[in-house]
Amino acid sequence: MTPTPDDSGAEVCIIIPAAGSGTRLGEPVPKAFVDLCGRTIIERCVDNIPASLGASVVVVVPADLVDRTRELIPHVTVVAGGDHRSESVRAGIAAAGDARILLVHDAARPLTPARVFTEVVDAVRSGRSAVVPGVPVVDTLKQVEPASDGPLRVSRTVDREELRAVQTPQGFTRDALLRAHADDTGLATDDAGLAERCGIEVHVVPGDPLAMKITTPWDLRIVRDVVGES
Ligand code: C5P
Repeated sequence: MTPTPDDSGAEVCIIIPAAGSGTRLGEPVPKAFVDLCGRTIIERCVDNIPASLGASVVVVVPADLVDRTRELIPHVTVVAGGDHRSESVRAGIAAAGDARILLVHDAARPLTPARVFTEVVDAVRSGRSAVVPGVPVVDTLKQVEPASDGPLRVSRTVDREELRAVQTPQGFTRDALLRAHADDTGLATDDAGLAERCGIEVHVVPGDPLAMKITTPWDLRIVRDVVGES
C-alpha cells in the first residue's frame, strides 16, 4: 500500500510502536528489523495495512534507526520512541496530526489481515470509543500461587468462555486515546488497558490467528513458515 503522510488530513491514523529491543527473540537486531523472508518485520507490517482505509501511518522506532526506517519505508512518518511501549505510543500520538480515529498496532504482528483493521475502524466509526480484536482462549487457564515448597499450587480454574486473548490494531477515538494516555501509570501492557482504567468502555471484534504476536524464536519460526508458504 501507499499510506498517506500524517499531514494529509486523513480520518484514520495508524500508529505502529516498533521501538522495542525484542530481547526475547534472541536476534542481533531490534525485533521490527528482523528479516522475514526478504523483508523486515516493520516493512511487512506496513504493507499489510489495507489501502482502502486511506490511513496515514506513523512508525515509532529506536532513535538510532529513524534514518534507516525513513529509507526503508519513505511514505510513512517515522519518529523516535521511548524506553517503554507507552512512551513510544505517546511519541506516535504527538506525530499523528488531526486524525479523528487512531489505531495502535504492534509491529510485532506483521501478518494481521486487512479484515481486522477494517472491523476495528468500522466499530469506532459506528460510535465505539475503544475497540480491540480478540480471539477465544483455547487452553484451560489456572490461577496459581506459591506453595511452601516445590511447584506452584493451583488456586482456581478460570472460566475461559469469558476470556479473550487481545491483539492489535486497537482503535480509539482521538479523545479516548488521549484520555487513556493522560492517565498512564505505566503498568498496562496495551492501550485498551489504559482506557479501561479511566472508565472508557472497550468493545471486542473478532481477531485472527494471523494477528499472532512475534515474541519468541518459536513465534518467528511459525511466521516465517506462513510467509514462506504464501
Ligand atoms: O515487547 P513487546 O513485544 O510487548 O512490544 C510490543 C510492541 O511495542 C512492539 O512492536 C515493540 O517494538 C513496541 N515497543 C516500543 N517501544 C518500547 C517497547 C516496545 O515501541 N520501548
